[in-house]
Amino acid sequence: MWKGRFAQETAAAVNAFTQSLDLDWRLASSDIEGSRAHVAMLAEVGLLETDEARQIDEALLQIDQEVRSGDFRPSEDLEDVHMNIEARLIEKLGSLGAKLHMGRSRNDQVATTMRLFLRGEYRRLASGLKALLEVLLARAEADREILIPGYTHLQQAQPISLGHYWMGHFECFRRDARRLAAAFEAIDESPLGAGALAGSTLPLDREMTSRLLRFARPTRNSLDTVAQRDYLLDYHHFASVFALHCSRLAEDLILYASQEFGWLVLPDAYCTGSSMMPQKKNPDVLELVRGRTGQVVGHLVDLIVSLKGLPSTYNRDLQEDKRGLWASLSAVEAVLSVLPDLLAHVSVDERRAQAAFEGGFLLATDVAEHLVERGVPFREAHEKTGKAVRWCLDEGRALDSLALVEWRRLVPEVGEDLLARLNAREAVRLRRTYGGTSFERVAEAVAEGRSFLRDSWPLEG
Ligand code: ARG
Repeated sequence: MWKGRFAQETAAAVNAFTQSLDLDWRLASSDIEGSRAHVAMLAEVGLLETDEARQIDEALLQIDQEVRSGDFRPSEDLEDVHMNIEARLIEKLGSLGAKLHMGRSRNDQVATTMRLFLRGEYRRLASGLKALLEVLLARAEADREILIPGYTHLQQAQPISLGHYWMGHFECFRRDARRLAAAFEAIDESPLGAGALAGSTLPLDREMTSRLLRFARPTRNSLDTVAQRDYLLDYHHFASVFALHCSRLAEDLILYASQEFGWLVLPDAYCTGSSMMPQKKNPDVLELVRGRTGQVVGHLVDLIVSLKGLPSTYNRDLQEDKRGLWASLSAVEAVLSVLPDLLAHVSVDERRAQAAFEGGFLLATDVAEHLVERGVPFREAHEKTGKAVRWCLDEGRALDSLALVEWRRLVPEVGEDLLARLNAREAVRLRRTYGGTSFERVAEAVAEGRSFLRDSWPLEG
């Protein structure tokens, strides 16, 4: 394609080294979509005859068929998807095909093609993410009244509603939906017409190609257009935070399903056995969800580092943007293919969950707040309750086993109504602050989550 200026053939090793076909052939249909808009625009501004444009468009459609049917065998010698398709067009139409690339560079072309391609990917991600959120909502609704221990520092802290727990993760993934929407917005500008870096002397109509390709507007600066990969960083940021959220959720479930916690039961269909130990049921799916997170974050770092030292504008380094992107997309999709269903089939061993409450120490804050309600300053209430806990530990007693007289001996300010509230269900029921774990607050959160998915979902798909 550039043979005019060169006195030597490109070395075979160089072709193999510089080609990107293995990375970009999947873009073929999107590349054709962009070319068709370019051709329509060229006809509109008089750079192609109407009939020429029609012939090129028909040939491009045929090539798209060849791509989709698998009949098109691209060649690495032609470097990338763009050159392969253009070469095929020239093969079909002769010098008419050679008109396609006027006013265009692969630099604006690849940026356009990527954005068109990513639209479809993002729609798939959006619907996977929505499915995940729907499962969490359904779980939260069904598990609203199930009590589990809540932890800070991985130490038992206060009883919570399992529904509240699921809604906590719902909030994480809701924010991820906003981040994906931001990534979506970042691809909603048309690079076509930026040329190699500075635009074109030809009278291209960038508004028209932008409109034909259903972008919101053409990009504003041609230099920036061919140089920047912020739109991919936005994807990687979404993916990294999403993977991080999945990883933390996975880590929780792995712990809660271990014998030491034991109150969560993972579905057999989402676990694997051991080749040696017959009793084992391993949470490999969750471990791999956790395990892939590092790779997803790695791809973000990879691209940031690649971009860091690049001078303006297009540099060939940018071609490598695809390698990590595809790997990241497939990791995220893989997680979305297993996680919602796994969550839908998790169950709780309520007897084991109840056992966690038996020492009663998760109710210590409730004792302190009971004292606060009776006028004891919180710091004093905290200390008095702490001493009662100490006494129970020394005596081998459970906090909720003390009779009123025993309580009064330890903390004279205790009221008669303390005993009635010293159980996990009451402890949860009474945490009615906005955003808290009480059953009614969880019901409200679920209702709000439903209306978010129905009315305010920030994504297509
Ligand atoms: N395959 C290249 C890429 O993905 C296309 C752009 C090549 N441009 C160039 N000036 N060599 O970035």
